Amino acid sequence: MTAAKKITVTGAAGNIAYSLLWRIANGDVYGKDVPVELNLLEIESALRATEGVAMELLDSAFPLLKNIRITANANEAFDGASAAFLVGAKPRGKGEERSDLLAANGKIFGPQGKAINEGAADDIRVVVVGNPANTNAMIAMNAAPDVPASRFSALMRLDHNRALSQLATKLDKDSTDFEKMVIWGNHSATQFPDITYATCEGKPVSELVDADWYKGEFIPRVAKRGAEIIEVRGHSSAASAASAAVDHMHDWINGTTSWVSAAIPSTGAYGIPEGVIVGMPTYAEGGEWKVVEGLELSDFQREMIDANVKELFDEREAVKDLLG
Ligand SMILES: NC(=O)c1ccc[n+]([C@@H]2O[C@H](COP(=O)([O-])OP(=O)(O)OC[C@H]3O[C@@H](n4cnc5c(N)ncnc54)[C@H](O)[C@@H]3O)[C@@H](O)[C@H]2O)c1
Repeated sequence: MTAAKKITVTGAAGNIAYSLLWRIANGDVYGKDVPVELNLLEIESALRATEGVAMELLDSAFPLLKNIRITANANEAFDGASAAFLVGAKPRGKGEERSDLLAANGKIFGPQGKAINEGAADDIRVVVVGNPANTNAMIAMNAAPDVPASRFSALMRLDHNRALSQLATKLDKDSTDFEKMVIWGNHSATQFPDITYATCEGKPVSELVDADWYKGEFIPRVAKRGAEIIEVRGHSSAASAASAAVDHMHDWINGTTSWVSAAIPSTGAYGIPEGVIVGMPTYAEGGEWKVVEGLELSDFQREMIDANVKELFDEREAVKDLLG
């Protein structure tokens, strides 16, 4: 057996964590031969509930789970961590503007980024799930100047999985029959689920569905799926978000065989200026996310991507006082 990996999960008493922690403890992130230690970060008032979650994890008798630490101190939580799932976030309050939400969350993700900078392991990889995920990830990245920017990411995989599932249902196929689906941009209703390069069993998806369905139904359905889940289930998506977060971290560490969508720091590719964390066509190799380069963009794609880039830079502007 190899040495145990420390994995930090924030918001450990919340809904997503209640599914996520079981997948991690089962070995679904690093693999079935890598023991894990869990560091659970919560706010003081939720520490008791987190103890209950830890009791249930112990009661599951996972062979790979070696230790659980519960804390409200970010430095303790990220000490020695190789993987971090930043799930805990402040939800939008009644009558609160988006800028208030951005600022309130910035105050959480800045100190967490600083704690990662100070104490995480050299192989730390961070995925931000808590919303607004892209900007929260950008804030954490900015607060961690000694950690390579490429170790920070935000979750677009839930949107990616939702898109695959919509296509599979529409064409009566399995989600695994599809390749080269891309979600560009922000994890918000502005996101761009793009089928331009997607194939189904090797055939272009754009030839299998009509343009009206693609633009009029598919794009808004995927982009607003979170709201649809809330309306039908009565709570925001939790198990599917946890599952997507595991897919993301697993693939980042172990590599991919085809494209997936991940929000990673912009590098200038596709004319997207540096400074934001943006959903892109990606693959993972050697423990790094890489951008699929050289794709031709139509005017429609350019317009959709630009709307996302504008939104992300507007969010950046709203939290500029929190950036070091
Ligand atoms: N990116 C995605 O695809 C996606 C999908 C679904 C939900 N989300 C987001 O994930 C977040 C969590 O969702 P949930 O359903 O688990 O919410 P939840 O309210 O059930 O749990 C959130 C937990 O975070 C904790 N928390 C708050 N501030 C914290 C801090 N500073 N440090 C540590 N913990 C803190 C809370 O005490 C709570 O237990 C929300 O922001 C939600 O919008 C993202």
